[in-house]
Amino acid sequence: MAKTSQTLPDLPSTLLIFSFTVLFSTTLGLKNQEKLSHLHFYFHDIVSGPNPAAVWVAQTPISKKSPTLFGSIAMFDDPLTVGPTRSSKLVGRAQGLYGSASQSEDALLMAMNFVFYEGNYNGSSLSVLGRNSVLEAVREMPVIGGSGVFRLARGYVQAKTVTFNATSGDALVEYDAFVFHY
Ligand SMILES: *[C@@H]1O[C@H](CO)[C@@H](O)[C@H](O)[C@H]1NC(C)=O
Ligand SMILES: *[C@@H]1O[C@H](CO)[C@@H](O)[C@H](O)[C@H]1NC(C)=O
Repeated sequence: MAKTSQTLPDLPSTLLIFSFTVLFSTTLGLKNQEKLSHLHFYFHDIVSGPNPAAVWVAQTPISKKSPTLFGSIAMFDDPLTVGPTRSSKLVGRAQGLYGSASQSEDALLMAMNFVFYEGNYNGSSLSVLGRNSVLEAVREMPVIGGSGVFRLARGYVQAKTVTFNATSGDALVEYDAFVFHY
């Protein structure tokens, strides 16, 4: 008898778990299935000229002697465009920082948010944290989260340098982002 009663569902707590799940899913906006989105855009890292979008904010005497500028940190608010030219349609901005994190390679630590302005994506963001070994043809960095339509996002980006002007320091980088989100 005791055994039978234990296998019966405990109705009040089952209902509670169910209603909690419904409430939780609704609150998080998880009515939809998880989907995979692919976003493609160009990142303009403008360090030169009268209106740079990236500025060095920290450097030590050691950084200046280092072949990799180790320890230097820049903060940026770089435009993201649909095509490779600077005058192409603005679809968002990359806001964050990169710093030289290697004493022997041109490898950056990047911590940035992409905020998008287009249609359904307007105001939504993706957060990227990763290692950017800038001389490699394709760099991969993790997407660790997001907001708005990208709530609970996870995925990765691939970054490819299209042009780098060694005189000015300006770079044009093509980005592909692959993200799972709801
Ligand atoms: C994006 O949202 C902002 C603020 O709500 C609004 O001013 C802007 O017009 C929107 N842009 C587009 C392309 O919908
Ligand atoms: C590289 O930058 C320098 C200095 O700003 C500029 O004079 C030159 O035209 C640029 N080169 C290219 C290919 O854009």
